[in-house]
Amino acid sequence: MHKVTLITGDGIGPEITESVKQIFKAADVPVSWEEVNAGMVSLEQGDELIPQTLIDSVNKNKVALKGPITTPVGKGFKSVNVQLRHMFDLYQNIRPCKSTPGIISKFDNVDTVLFRENTEGLYAGLELYDDRLEMADSIARVTKKGSMRIVKASFEYARKFGRKKVTLVHKANILKWIGKIFLDAGDEVSKEYPDIEMNDRIIDNMCMQLVLRPEDYDVIVTTNLFGDILSDLCAGLVGGLGLVSGANVGDDIAIFEAVHGSAPDIAGQNKANPTAIIRSAILMLKHLKLNTFAESIDNALNNTLKDPQLCTADLGGPLGTKEFTKAVINNLNGK
Ligand code: NAI
Repeated sequence: MHKVTLITGDGIGPEITESVKQIFKAADVPVSWEEVNAGMVSLEQGDELIPQTLIDSVNKNKVALKGPITTPVGKGFKSVNVQLRHMFDLYQNIRPCKSTPGIISKFDNVDTVLFRENTEGLYAGLELYDDRLEMADSIARVTKKGSMRIVKASFEYARKFGRKKVTLVHKANILKWIGKIFLDAGDEVSKEYPDIEMNDRIIDNMCMQLVLRPEDYDVIVTTNLFGDILSDLCAGLVGGLGLVSGANVGDDIAIFEAVHGSAPDIAGQNKANPTAIIRSAILMLKHLKLNTFAESIDNALNNTLKDPQLCTADLGGPLGTKEFTKAVINNLNGK
């Protein structure tokens, strides 16, 4: 039995994590959950934004599944998501994005894996506000060490999973030093991987290339903000945010979560598509080397998604979160 920390989150978080819990139970997955929470929900319960129990649980279990957590906009609120990534040095944000048979979307041939640097760049927390001058500075910090390790992780992944090409995305024409450090890391690391092609793209061009010819892209590696934006763009290519999974990975600890946020517009209404978090949980099962369970849930999920009458509203289907979860359970092991 593997003990895993479950951070339910807020917004649609409780609904979609409940879906994973039910599917794991129905599939007899040997995982037991240690439930903790963070964010506004914890504050309202008189606890810290990131409670010590959560920190202890993640340090002990080394693996967590996390629902989305709201970051109030424009209130100087420090994102819990970013803090967790810094706290546990989860420098790789891995976001696979693949077309799903049966899902109507702009393309049916997308199969990319995005590596987003997860601890540096404009998310380094180096922000100053001068009240008198009504002026703000946000400093993007990029280091050689940080760039080398994320680029290396992307090449390692490419080699391990038989992928052919890594594309580095940057803005070195304008952000000269940040761009240079990142591109130099690409040149240095790629020498160790002669079997894998490397190329690079400037972020603005990359956005256009992806919406024109996503099939040209295999593994993509980029800095924090560009990765944040590109992963939502990639989600849009394959049917939307309800479908795309993610993993925050360090050398020791991994926290799995969907790419999407807390979706306050549909929270508590049984409307959320739990596919993205189920897929994140499948990545987690592979990380735990529970591959048979991962495959059986993946098959049940994909068989459900093939039938438009079994999809949730974001995909044009009639089902709510609970009914979709039941449909996936019905499809487990061909039941
Ligand atoms: P969002 O991803 O929550 O929602 C964007 C749009 O996609 C909304 O229309 C929403 O209804 C829809 N959507 C998202 N997930 C869906 C799902 N599973 N099923 C069906 N529809 C779905 O992005 P937004 O609105 O920009 O952010 C809301 C909050 O989430 C913010 O406070 C933000 O900071 C937070 N957030 C948290 C993240 C995390 O915990 N890792 C990641 C991204 C945002």
